[in-house]
Amino acid sequence: MILVSLNKYTKKTKFMYNSKITGLGFYVPDNVVTNDDLAKMMDTNDEWIQERTGIKERRWIPEGSEDSSSVMGAKAARIAIERAGLTKDDIDFIVFATLSPDFYFPGCGVQIQEMLDMRTVGAIDVRNQCSGFVYGLSVADQFIKTGMYKNVLVIGAEFHSGGLDKTDRGRGVTVIFGDGAGAAVLSRTEDNNKGILSTHLHSEGKHANELIVAAPSIKHWVPEILEANDENDESYFPYMNGTFVFKHAIVRFHEVIVEGLQANNLEAKDINLLIPHQANLRISQFVQKKFGLSDDQIYNNIMQYGNTTAASIAIALTEAWELGKIKDNDIVVLAAFGSGFTWGSVIIRW
Ligand code: UT7
Repeated sequence: MILVSLNKYTKKTKFMYNSKITGLGFYVPDNVVTNDDLAKMMDTNDEWIQERTGIKERRWIPEGSEDSSSVMGAKAARIAIERAGLTKDDIDFIVFATLSPDFYFPGCGVQIQEMLDMRTVGAIDVRNQCSGFVYGLSVADQFIKTGMYKNVLVIGAEFHSGGLDKTDRGRGVTVIFGDGAGAAVLSRTEDNNKGILSTHLHSEGKHANELIVAAPSIKHWVPEILEANDENDESYFPYMNGTFVFKHAIVRFHEVIVEGLQANNLEAKDINLLIPHQANLRISQFVQKKFGLSDDQIYNNIMQYGNTTAASIAIALTEAWELGKIKDNDIVVLAAFGSGFTWGSVIIRW
C-alpha cells in the first residue's frame, strides 16, 4: 500500500516501510600525512592549508599496503554489519559509492560481494563523487521503501592518494584529499516516522569540467596518453576550479537542506545534527552561519581526515554516532555537493 501526501512545498510520498540506519562503521589507513609532510613534497605550507580549508592532516594509504577503495570499504562494511546485529548473509543488496574504483570496470560493489563472501546479491556502483554517499543512501532507501529489500549495505570509499599530482602543479587540489571508507546498513522499519524521512538529489552537468578527472577515458585512452608521452598532460590528475566550485557549493548546500527541511515541515532549529560533506571547513562554517546553527548542531572532522569525497559523510556520521552525538528521535541532516555538479540531502529521524 502506498499513501500519497502533498505538503505545501514538495511532493512527498509515504510508503509502507521506511529505511533506518542500523549499523555504521568506518576505516581509515594508519598513515597520517600532516600539512608539514606535504610541504616537503610541494610548494605549500601548514598556514595556507589550515587557513583556506581547515585541514590539519589526512590519511594516505602507504606504499605497499593492500588497501584500496574496495578493501577499505570491506573493512568499514564488516563493522557496520556487525553493529547492525546482522551477518553478511542478511544483506540483500550492495551500493558502493566511489570516484576512485580499483578498476575502470568492474565496480567495487561486486568486489565487496566477493570479499565478504556474501550471497550472490545485486551490487551497483554509484558515480557521484562528493555526493556519492547521499546518492547511495537514496538508492538504498528506495529499494527498502518499495519493499524489495530488507537490508542494504551502503559504502562510500576513496583511495585518492594514488591518483594525485604530488608536485607544485597539483598543490591546489592535492592538499585537500584524503583516503578512507565508511559504511552504513539500512534496514526496513514499519515505523513511518523514523529513519530516512526524505532524500533530495540534483545535478547540473554543464559544470562537469570544473571538477574532473578527464583520463583515462574513452575520449582520452591509455595508448594515446602513452604514445604522446607528454609530461605536461594533466588530464589524469584531478582538475578543480576551486573558487567556482566553492561559490556553487555554498548556494547548493543551503538550497538542498532547505528543500529537505520543508518537505518534512521542519525548520533549521529542529536540526539536532547537520553533517555536511567535508569539502572545506570554510564551506561548513558558511552553511552553519546561514542556518544559525550552534557548534553542537554541526559535525566536522575534515581537520583530521581531509576531504574523503564519497566516504566523508559516512566517516563523519559514524564518528559522530560513536561519540554519542546522535540520540533516538534526533533529526540528522546529511548534505553534499561536488563534481558533476551533483548535490543532495538526506533528512533522518534517528
Ligand atoms: O569536495 C568537492 C567539492 N570541492 C569543494 O567544495 C572545494 C571548493 N573550493 C575550495 O575549497 C577552495 O577554492 C580551495 C581550498 C580549493 C582553494 O582556496 P582558494 O581560496 O579558492 O584559493 P585559490 O585557488 O584562489 O588560490 C589562491 C592562491 C593562489 O596564488 P596567487 O595566484 O594568489 O598568487 C594559488 O596559487 O593560493 C595559491 N595556492 C596555494 N598556496 C599554497 C593554491 N594552492 C596552494 C597551496 N599552498 N596548496
